[in-house]
Amino acid sequence: MEIRVQAIIAHSGYCSRRKAEELIEKGKVKVNDQIIKLGDKAKVTDTITIDEMPISQEKKVWIMLNKPKGYECTSGNVKKRAIDLVQIPERIYTVGRLDKDATGLVLLTNDGDFANKIMHPSKEIPKYYWLLLDREFHDKEKMEKGVRLVDGKVFPKVVSIDKHKIVIKIVEGRKHIVKRMLFKLKYFVKALKRIQIGNLKLDVKEGKWRYLTQKEINQLVQ
Ligand code: URA
Repeated sequence: MEIRVQAIIAHSGYCSRRKAEELIEKGKVKVNDQIIKLGDKAKVTDTITIDEMPISQEKKVWIMLNKPKGYECTSGNVKKRAIDLVQIPERIYTVGRLDKDATGLVLLTNDGDFANKIMHPSKEIPKYYWLLLDREFHDKEKMEKGVRLVDGKVFPKVVSIDKHKIVIKIVEGRKHIVKRMLFKLKYFVKALKRIQIGNLKLDVKEGKWRYLTQKEINQLVQ
């Protein structure tokens, strides 16, 4: 994707868009070593310099996405990637994963420190999942005593139960952990939606996204 160079410069935090336009008009801005003119476009992979100094193109972004079914949380070469639902110039990746057939809250960022903090098990950030099961749920006590899986015990909390539909809270983040845990108790998860991470509640429609506020970012990594 190509965007106007003044927008890239403003995005980087170097200066305002108007100031960037002035710099371009003065001939101070180069893209891949060529002086550019106002209105020229560039890609995030291009090298942009102002007075021969490269700018750091990527400002940091923190995003919540409501992932629809069928999209994968990977930067790899697959047909439908969650990151492609967020059309911004920065190169972002997902923080943790949601299964391809799952929906709901996924965090996206280009801030490695933020991603590491969120993912680190010592943080024990709770995640809330809404689940549709193949039968009525009757195992709250059993589940909350802990469910033993091949890679260790999980200690969920059952937040609410409405026949086949339940909301659970877990702090662990291992692969397919919710489905495996329910399967251990002889339930099949027909639908899984992540509705909350820490205090951050999903509040955008499926397929949509928004930037997090500074307050939300601080709360997640505190
Ligand atoms: N647990 C699962 O089984 N799947 C997910 O996508 C997330 C948690």
